[in-house]
Amino acid sequence: MTAATGPDSTAQQTFYLKDYTPFGFEVDSVDLTFRLAPNATRVISRIHFTPKADAADPQFFLHGEKLKLISASIDGVAVTPDVTPEGLVCTTPDTAFLWEAEVEIDPAGNTALEGLYMSNGMYCTQCEAEGFRKITYYPDRPDVMSTFTVRIEADEEVLLSNGNPVSQGAGTAEWHDPWPKPAYLFALVAGDLVNHPDTFTTKSGRAVELNIWVRPGDEDKCAFGMDALKKSMTWDEQAYGREYDLDIFNIVAVDDFNMGAMENKGLNIFNSSCVLASPETSTDANFERIEAIIAHEYFHNWTGNRITCRDWFQLCLKEGLTVFRDAQFTSDMRSAPVKRISDVIDLRARQFPEDQGPLSHPVRPEEFQEINNFYTATIYEKGAEVIGMLKRLVGDEAYSRALDLYFERHDGQACTIEDWLKVFEDTTGRDLSQFKRWYSQAGTPRLKVDEAYDDGTYTLTFEQDTAPTPGQPQKDPRVIPIAIGLLNDNGDEVLPTTVLEMTEAKQVFEFKDLASKPVPSILREFSAPVVLERETSNAERAFLLAHDSDPFNQWEAGNSLARASRLSMVKTGSAPDPAYLDALQKLLRDDTLDPAFRALMLQPPSQSDIAQALFEDGTVPDPQKIDDAAETFAMTLAQQLADSLPRLYAATTVDGPYSPDATSAGKRALNGRILSLLTRLDGGDAAARQFASADNMTQQYSALASLMKAEKGETQSIAFFEQWQADRLVMDKWFALQVACASPDRAAGIAADLTRHPLFTLKNPNRFRAVMGALAGHHAGFHHASGAGYSLLAENLIALDKLNPQTTARMCTAFQTWKRYDSDRQSLIKAQLQRIATSGGLSRDTNEMVSRILNA
Ligand code: BES
Ligand code: ZN
Repeated sequence: MTAATGPDSTAQQTFYLKDYTPFGFEVDSVDLTFRLAPNATRVISRIHFTPKADAADPQFFLHGEKLKLISASIDGVAVTPDVTPEGLVCTTPDTAFLWEAEVEIDPAGNTALEGLYMSNGMYCTQCEAEGFRKITYYPDRPDVMSTFTVRIEADEEVLLSNGNPVSQGAGTAEWHDPWPKPAYLFALVAGDLVNHPDTFTTKSGRAVELNIWVRPGDEDKCAFGMDALKKSMTWDEQAYGREYDLDIFNIVAVDDFNMGAMENKGLNIFNSSCVLASPETSTDANFERIEAIIAHEYFHNWTGNRITCRDWFQLCLKEGLTVFRDAQFTSDMRSAPVKRISDVIDLRARQFPEDQGPLSHPVRPEEFQEINNFYTATIYEKGAEVIGMLKRLVGDEAYSRALDLYFERHDGQACTIEDWLKVFEDTTGRDLSQFKRWYSQAGTPRLKVDEAYDDGTYTLTFEQDTAPTPGQPQKDPRVIPIAIGLLNDNGDEVLPTTVLEMTEAKQVFEFKDLASKPVPSILREFSAPVVLERETSNAERAFLLAHDSDPFNQWEAGNSLARASRLSMVKTGSAPDPAYLDALQKLLRDDTLDPAFRALMLQPPSQSDIAQALFEDGTVPDPQKIDDAAETFAMTLAQQLADSLPRLYAATTVDGPYSPDATSAGKRALNGRILSLLTRLDGGDAAARQFASADNMTQQYSALASLMKAEKGETQSIAFFEQWQADRLVMDKWFALQVACASPDRAAGIAADLTRHPLFTLKNPNRFRAVMGALAGHHAGFHHASGAGYSLLAENLIALDKLNPQTTARMCTAFQTWKRYDSDRQSLIKAQLQRIATSGGLSRDTNEMVSRILNA
């Protein structure tokens, strides 16, 4: 072992895609009995195994971690397996046999929130990716699928597991799931819960009982989620021909949860923040996220559960596809352009930095130490982009036939990316071997564009290039679908959207018989996840902002104007670009444009984006200067609009009873932007009035945020706290706002104070993320020259790692961009990363993240 990964680097096992070997046994059925007790739950398993005739690996190895083995037997005869911290090995008969084991586990002591744990007095499980091995001994790998029967014995009133109910009695319940599934989809819930019931009839007439289970008191926050579930069920029938396949579908809300939600077969478990909604406590953004995540987990029933992954290297097979499907759903339910623009903003904010930094990895990784660290923006969001490109290349109709073939051919199987691509090849006759590089090569391609016009012929020359990424110094050219349109000087389209298929490192496309030199609109709808590099003028950007018929590129034109203006402000100290300010004012007043779209136009580029752009431009970003420029810009815009702001604010205010629909939400988003500008000028009067009169969280929250940002919200912040201190989810907003709205000088200090607040706890991931996530997201505060942000985060990551490795490791990504900054900041960050690395007893999760980031 070399010392290259830092002073305390320890050898950790690495798993490789190339080492895949099937399990040597079939699992014919699984029968589990749970005797629940907080500190000593007994799990009794009865599993029928059949050895495979020509097994490459005949060893009978069962995963198992942190289990106390009480007894084990084969065909009724006691056995003594070899037990290690990772599992057990046992000698087995040559023919089918019954494995029985009893283990004891400690759900109440489980703070990692993986396996069976307790949250607020209720039992629940989280088994993806490798949590089932903390429940009992089992081949805990996604290619081992079986039917499960589960018996629960407990004092709790509501006892749930996967599949259909078989029997219910006092203190006991039995469930049977007829669909073979991998162990990661196992779930169990026991608690004194109340439900919000409904029903759904599938298109073939099957009646399905629907329930959302929550803690008493939350039952009035379920209606929106239930509605989203029914919409999702209908949409999947219509768009993909996919019907639900059990008699019952349960959703449970849990307060302590590492992720957003989990698609366990027939028993989805949700972070309560991703399912509970009410106008008084949830913002428009919360409603939209809840709708999307309910859809996402529901859609997994086909893309993930009925067809699952062969191994965890294939994670994008289910996650990329399901993100793609939930984005299609949101586009259909709401505004497609707004969804696309928001997704690209998110991709650039989270996936691009990942792909351009030390954590860069392919959409299908070839190695990992801890799989939990690979639930990344690359697997999810780039994985979804790759499917979008595939669809664009083959066309909508072929996409739909390929998906039909996928479901028909692979139902009940555990599949690979090869299987996925093969259905497209078989449907279309295309050779997708080059396209497959999107799955194997990491890094964001840069696409350089040159243009020429001569005698009616317009020529576009594209060059693609991808920088080296960890372990991949050389890249081969990829297939890039480039959607373009051409406009003449009047803004009329002379070439409607056309998809160019780039396959070479450098490629030329010609357009003939044009009356004059056109203005190109390139990468419409963001047809590929690349960085476009093109010499262009602000005049041309403004032209496209005014005339492009593609809403994404119209937004992109405005966004690139904003970026260019912001970069020159930071670099030269210049004033905001007057042409851009003009264009914004026009857009703001243009009532023919969707308010949600106008709100997005008014959303400034993120400070982290500007830092990345400066870095790429060869300038070392200064976070304080970037923040100053953002402030100057907002102030200048507010002053220029001074006369019209009160009127614009009034005109965009949504009155009447609150409704979370997309149109009203879009109006409120625009109104919120205007309020934040107005608050810079009116001493906070309008925001204070809005705060006092708001009857919904969206307006209360946007008023409070505007006031706090202007340092005029002290009374309102206290009032908000008093009003909502008993509501955990609203308190998360309060915690996050304290940090997010702080000045760069104060952000770390405020965050530090909040970690000593009586309501702060490391045990609840939402609360931890509210404070530490807000700090990491406060660009100038986190990167404050004092280094206080870095050391506070490090201190808290060290503390959390002892309880919850998964959430700790995910938050380490805050440091992934460290190489962008000046040498002082780099040494400060490096010292903190080393401090974490050497803190002792580090989890595998966090150790992997810190060493990868340090190795940049
Ligand atoms: N399967 C995941 C949940 C998961 C991820 C469990 C990692 C264990 C480890 C689920 O389908 C998912 O992807 N959830 C996302 C939200 C979704 C809308 C992208 C999440 O939890 O953030
Ligand atoms: Zn998912």
